[in-house]
Parts: sequence; C-alpha cells; structure tokens
Amino acid sequence: MQVGIDAMAFSTSRYFLRLDTLAKNRNVDCAKYCIGIGQLKMSVFPPNEDIVTIAISAAQKVMARLVNKNEIDVLIFATESSFDLSKSAGIYVHHFLGLRPDCRVFDVKQACYSVTAALQLARSFVKDNPDSKVLVIGSDILKYSAGSSGEPTQGGAAIAIIVAKNPRLMIVEQHFSTYTTEIMDFWRPIEEGEALFDGKLSAQNYLQSLEITFLGYLKKSDLTPSDIDQVCFHAPFSKMAIKARNKTFADKSIDDTLIYNAIIGNSCSASLYVCLISLLDNSGDDLDGKRIGLFSYGSGSVAEFFSCTVVSGYRHMLSAEENRKMLEDRIEVSFEEYEQFCKNQADPGKKYANVGSIRMVRVENKQRIYERRIAG
Ligand code: COA
Repeated sequence: MQVGIDAMAFSTSRYFLRLDTLAKNRNVDCAKYCIGIGQLKMSVFPPNEDIVTIAISAAQKVMARLVNKNEIDVLIFATESSFDLSKSAGIYVHHFLGLRPDCRVFDVKQACYSVTAALQLARSFVKDNPDSKVLVIGSDILKYSAGSSGEPTQGGAAIAIIVAKNPRLMIVEQHFSTYTTEIMDFWRPIEEGEALFDGKLSAQNYLQSLEITFLGYLKKSDLTPSDIDQVCFHAPFSKMAIKARNKTFADKSIDDTLIYNAIIGNSCSASLYVCLISLLDNSGDDLDGKRIGLFSYGSGSVAEFFSCTVVSGYRHMLSAEENRKMLEDRIEVSFEEYEQFCKNQADPGKKYANVGSIRMVRVENKQRIYERRIAG
C-alpha cells in the first residue's frame, strides 16, 4: 500500500514589505538582500493574524479537496511559534474546521524540522490504519529584532497537508536518513518575543547535516544521485538553499522551488513544503513519476533527507493560479507600518485584511479570542 501526500495547500499574510524598502531604511545596499541573501519581499503580519488564523486558512483550502471532513482521524500541528506551553494550537483549528470530537489532536516542535517529523508520524499511522487520513499543519511567524542581521530573513506561512493511502499528489518513500546534534544556532527563549541566532554557525551546521543525511539516504536506499530527478531544500533564505544545491546537486536548477520563498521569507516549519508546492506549481516539466529529494533542517538541530515520488495526474491536485493570485494580491506596507506590525501594535483607525475566515480579535484574561470574519 502506498501512503503519502494526498493534497497540500499554504497561506501567508495579506501584507508584505519589500526588502529594498528595508535596505533603504537600514542604510544597506539593496543588492545584499536581493542578491546576497536572495530575498525580494517578506510577509509581515497585522495584529489580528497569528499562527492559528493562517493555519485555519491553509487547512480550509486543503479540506476542500476531501469529500468528507469526517475522514480526518488525527490532526498534528507543527510549530515553533506557539503562544501556549500547554494547550495545542491544533485544538483551535479542530474547532473552527468542525472536525470529529474523536479526532486525536496534538502539537509537535523541533524548529523548522517539525512538519517533516509530523509527516513521517502520519505516514506510519496511515500504514497501520489504512482507512485513516491525517491532517498535518505547519504554521510559523518569524520575527528577529529590528536592525539585526536576521531582519531581512523574517517571514511566515502555514502549510496544510493531508496524508492518506493511495495519495493523489506524492508518495512518501520509505527511505530516509536523519541526523541530530546539540547546537545553539537558533533558539526562541520563552520570555523573548524575537528569535536569537548565530546565522553563520547555522549555515555551517545546515550544510554539514545535509552532507551527512544525503550520504546516509543514498546508503540506505541503494540509490545514486542520478536517481533523484528534482531536489528541494529547507530555505530560511533563498541563498541558503542555493548553497545546499551547490554542495549536492550542482547540475540541477532549484529556481522553481524558490519562487514563493523569495517573496514570503522564512516560513520555518512550512518552508520546505512551500518550496515543494512552488516546484509543483511552477515547473514546466511533467513531473509524473519523478523522484524528488527533500532536505529538512531544524536548528538545534535535527535534519532529514528523504524522498517522494510524484503521482501520475498530480496536476489536478494543484492550485497554482490560486497560489499566485494570493501572493500577487498582497498589500505592500510602508516602513512605518512594518515597524508598527513588529511591535504588534494596531492602528485604531484601520481595518486589517485577513487571509482567511477567522481572525484574532483580542486577548482577554490572557486568552486569545477568535471570531469568524464576515466576508467583505
Ligand atoms: N551585493 C551583493 N551581495 C552582497 C552584498 C552586496 N552589496 N553585500 C553582501 N553580500 C553577500 C555576501 O557576500 C554574502 O554572500 P555569501 O554568503 O554567498 O558569501 C551574503 O550577501 C550575506 O552577507 P553577510 O555579510 O554574510 O550578511 P549578514 O552578516 O548580514 O548575515 C544572514 C546574513 C543570512 C546570515 C543573516 O541574515 C542571518 O543569520 N539570518 C538568520 C538565518 C538563520 O539562522 N535562520 C535559521 C536557521 S535555518
């Protein structure tokens, strides 16, 4: 029995900041951000959008691919941007999607790696329970402090994946190689609003973890690099993925994988899967039956190299036009508005646009209050 990704969708903020605007205001040469780091724009989030609201938006899109929402037995929410150490963010998604009360819901965490962990868990679960479907969600919003070297590599997005038998999009293959090592390259202490990081150490460890897991994957699978048709890397910023490509698959272009990432920014746990959707949506090649190598990296750190094969007829399961429109229709913010968003400050005279049908309206008694948005 084949198990894998039956459907996949993503959402991000309705707002973005151009990186040349950021560069101008930080007295940095625009080319450093746009060429040196490989980022053109980044998603920025208004005060009423959070990891739950964007997750619900992505989940609603992917659920539209199912005949019956009651088919979902398990919901796994992967995030490193949680606002609660106890309650799963997945419970809000379960509630607003109206999933069955006997659906199992929990969160998982390991920096940007967590969706891959959830995907592999879901694959095993479906292997044991062939009639089950699992909804895997990855949702993150990343903020670095203003003026720091990390500032141009912020971003955020949510990915929603349905894992099922006889998938219509991609089969997750059985071979994988993982590598775990204790390192302080990126971390988010609970009391800090913004991420702390050592970018150079992180890049070094990312590339070393790639080398180890790629060799491990080849050994375990008995495949050679030429058996891999396309490759997709976790992309904290696009140049990082290009460096990864140069180390392993210098003969292959990964341009199609980075089209969305270059204008969304680092979406952490969702990043690798946003790159995968970007490849499927934008590749001019017919990917039917092609093997895609995937490298997942989460600081701290855990990495995994694994692969998927594309299912014949996969194009029917894509929403390329919808994805492009979502990104094209975003609203540009000025540098001043961006600074306001960073402080999570609402402009009292402004009604913010949301990506989905649920928005976070206020925090009351330290509880987040969400409500359904009236269309328009
Ligand atoms: N024109 C073109 N390129 C330029 C340039 C210019 N004027 N000025 C600098 N560059 C290039 C540099 O040569 C460098 O390229 P290289 O890496 O290929 O050598 C690149 O731009 C970045 O320059 P650098 O001096 O290294 O920038 P920085 O010290 O500001 O740091 C990051 C950049 C990406 C390392 C930093 O934004 C960061 O750490 N972000 C967080 C990343 C992270 O840790 N994510 C989580 C882990 S997955």
